[in-house]
Amino acid sequence: MARVTISTTPDQLRSGIQPSAEEARTYCAQLEAGDILYIPGMPFEIPPADLDFLLGRRQSGGRLHKNIAYRANEDRITGFAEDTPGDAARLLQIMRDYSRNATKTLSAILSPYQQRWNLDFASYRPLEEENRDLTLHKRNDLIHTDAFPSRPTNGDRILRFFTNINPSEPRKWMTTTPFNSLAGQFAGKSGGCPLPTPHGSSAFAKTAFSMKKALASAGIPITPRSPYDDFMMRFHNFLKENSTFQKDCPKQYDDFPPNTCWMVYTDMVGHAVLSGRYALEQTYIVSKEAMVMPEKAPVRILEKMVGAGLVVSS
Ligand SMILES: [Fe+2]
Repeated sequence: MARVTISTTPDQLRSGIQPSAEEARTYCAQLEAGDILYIPGMPFEIPPADLDFLLGRRQSGGRLHKNIAYRANEDRITGFAEDTPGDAARLLQIMRDYSRNATKTLSAILSPYQQRWNLDFASYRPLEEENRDLTLHKRNDLIHTDAFPSRPTNGDRILRFFTNINPSEPRKWMTTTPFNSLAGQFAGKSGGCPLPTPHGSSAFAKTAFSMKKALASAGIPITPRSPYDDFMMRFHNFLKENSTFQKDCPKQYDDFPPNTCWMVYTDMVGHAVLSGRYALEQTYIVSKEAMVMPEKAPVRILEKMVGAGLVVSS
């Protein structure tokens, strides 16, 4: 894995210049191989008054006590306790702007995807990550691959765009080998994390999955989950629970300085956040059909290991 710097400069991106089609395809391929795409500056402006608003929360008595989520599809904020009337509306506007700017940037750099993604949550992460008091499965400082308990992807990809808005401190990451290597080592009975049961392609499983999806879209609190999603959630927990892996796995350290952005497929890159506070982030669920190197996707790697389909077509 490597950190790849986008050759189109932040200023060029701001003025609407985007990578050529060939460069963009290479960027997609590098992301899909487990590289981190890095923008060494800000490809869009966050107005100073908005930054002051976000950073000013550090003096406000700790009311911002957890991550703040912006649900783009519903255009609303969760996880925010308002100090002053009007703060929630202000924060909503800032997060809405960030989400739109991140998406515009991603659309320019990763043009081969043609926006074949669903906009997931954006977040503001105001708390210091070092020594953060979280339960084991929620800890960010343990290496893991991402899976969302409440938002299964059915084989689609989790792509995250990050921005460090800390005025003076880097955000420090640690990464390890990508998913193909981790799965080769740990997926399966001998590795410690049993492979998924390949029932995803049976007629019964398809019907059950479609029914659950219909109930979920009607507001019934049910989460349709494919065998792939089951495995990815178990694998996330397995890696965090495995103290030998945490201690002995190959490690690479990456610092992301203030006012820089980076993007990564966090469902395949084993990653942890060691320190840093004040980061913005937007998540995209990218269609598995949009991949330029589909064979590198975790779902394909697992299906090859199992010898059967692990997602459910609706
Ligand atoms: Fe993560």
